[in-house]
Amino acid sequence: EDLVEVKPKMVMTVFACLMARGMKRADQVFSITSKTEEEVSIVRNVSSDYETVLWQPAAPGYIKPNMEVHLFVPGSSLTTVKDLLTKHHISHQILLHNTQELIEKQTQSNASDPRSSGSYYERYHPLEDIYHWINKTKHDHPEMVEVILIGSSYEKRPLLVLKLSGKGGSQPKRAMWIDCGIHAREWISPAFCLWFVNYAIDFYNIVADITEILDSMDVYVLPVMNPDGYKYTWTTNRMWRKNRSWHPENYCPGTDLNRNFDANWCTEGSSSRACDETYCGLFPESEPEAEAVANFLRSHKHTVKLYLSMHSYSQMLLFPYSCSYQEASNHQELNELAQEAAQKIRMYYRNTYKYGAGARTIYLAPGGSDDWAYKLGIKYSFTFELQDRGRYGFLLPPELISKACNEALTALKTIALGVIKKT
Ligand code: ARG
Ligand code: ZN
Repeated sequence: EDLVEVKPKMVMTVFACLMARGMKRADQVFSITSKTEEEVSIVRNVSSDYETVLWQPAAPGYIKPNMEVHLFVPGSSLTTVKDLLTKHHISHQILLHNTQELIEKQTQSNASDPRSSGSYYERYHPLEDIYHWINKTKHDHPEMVEVILIGSSYEKRPLLVLKLSGKGGSQPKRAMWIDCGIHAREWISPAFCLWFVNYAIDFYNIVADITEILDSMDVYVLPVMNPDGYKYTWTTNRMWRKNRSWHPENYCPGTDLNRNFDANWCTEGSSSRACDETYCGLFPESEPEAEAVANFLRSHKHTVKLYLSMHSYSQMLLFPYSCSYQEASNHQELNELAQEAAQKIRMYYRNTYKYGAGARTIYLAPGGSDDWAYKLGIKYSFTFELQDRGRYGFLLPPELISKACNEALTALKTIALGVIKKT
């Protein structure tokens, strides 16, 4: 027996040394492209094991040959995942080397922190700060802003909607709805809602397009539709997507709020397993956050003409249907609005947005809020997928907030003005 005996104590010492020198392996994001169905099934397995988190697409079932897959791999699984991909000759590269640095950049939100720069709107904010901002915004602009409590989250946080109204224009008024932060980790989305409200208040009666929009439509803005999940991404797990509800019969917490609406609920493109990222919940609107939004829109369905939902990332302007391959009855109109918006983004910001019906443009995603709103009778219904296309993914640095929001704002205004003309 000339094997060197490795004592647990030695292993512990080596590990402790690595830790002490700060050599704990960094969490990384991989870009993986599988060529064959066999490779696809390996990537699917890798993405559902080893504590990895799929960034793109949202669930393993969506992975197809030749699709660029973005996978977050924690430092502890790095070697295993890398070896597995190499062993099977699956093409992969590192997209992000050190996610921790990027997360730190995103969370340096405090203005008194010398490392953070830019205005309030060019930073990401913890949930408490957003609640504070909502109150302050109402307090500072009582003539334009009303705050409406539409319900509360699973963990009993208030779901607050800002109602923005102009003074001019004709009565009775139409309205539009914007929600942000359905998915917890998509931080650029709440940042956009704040950006939009600030822009609307600052430039009402100064810039023609936003003035016309606010004179023609009340704008309901829900800055954080999934406050429990958002909070969780700040405190515990930056990569969390779903809400935080526990159903007693389930093993895992969290329902995908964008699979919980009554639009071909829980069919292909969502999952009935609680531990999956696209878990559809127990029944349509089983989640208090989805129910609150649905109740509000049901009771305002005669005034709300335009529904917008903000997500990230991938740079797309999507419209119904996502819950089936069927074409929406006003597909042509929706397509023209999205096309015009994408052209403006290209012209003014030199950036590319894909557009089209959700199911055909990304994937089947039943139970989405946009399809549900459309079926309710809100015939102009869109989901925006904001920046970027994977350079930073969910970890978009704060310096890039302004461009991401400005281009989305351009698209929003283009579509809103188009809808005003039609309705
Ligand atoms: N990426 C988002 C998701 O997986 C949006 C997909 C489009 N689906 C929709 N219903 N609009 O939920
Ligand atoms: Zn999303």
